[in-house]
Amino acid sequence: MERVTRFGVSLDSELLDRFDKFVKRKGYANRSKAIESIIRDYLIQSEWEMEEKEVAGTITMVYNHEKTDLVDILTDIQHQHRDLVVSSMHVHLDEHNCLEVLATRGKSSDIREIADKLICTKGVKHGKLIITTTGH
Ligand code: NI
Repeated sequence: MERVTRFGVSLDSELLDRFDKFVKRKGYANRSKAIESIIRDYLIQSEWEMEEKEVAGTITMVYNHEKTDLVDILTDIQHQHRDLVVSSMHVHLDEHNCLEVLATRGKSSDIREIADKLICTKGVKHGKLIITTTGH
């Protein structure tokens, strides 16, 4: 039998509420099953991203452009990795929020690294990396 470890998680109650609805909608037996499945999925994805393969990817970010220094920081990161960032698109969603999508190309581990830097920057509300093949 697999060894199972219990651990506690603290979550924003609104987020937990949404998670519970997700668990129900997807038909998971319980929260633990859902979390286990999500962790496995995430680990598989990130292991693949650690490889040295040449890939293409998009990095999507939503942020408030009025946050002090945020635009400068995100732009600096992109300039430092200009060999990876092929193109970018900026959409002004409303008075405050911006959507930015970057097309990237390079070693999967390098793309993961720049995506993590951007997405983990304080003030970025949501960020997502999608890695795909270059077609070769
Ligand atoms: Ni904007």
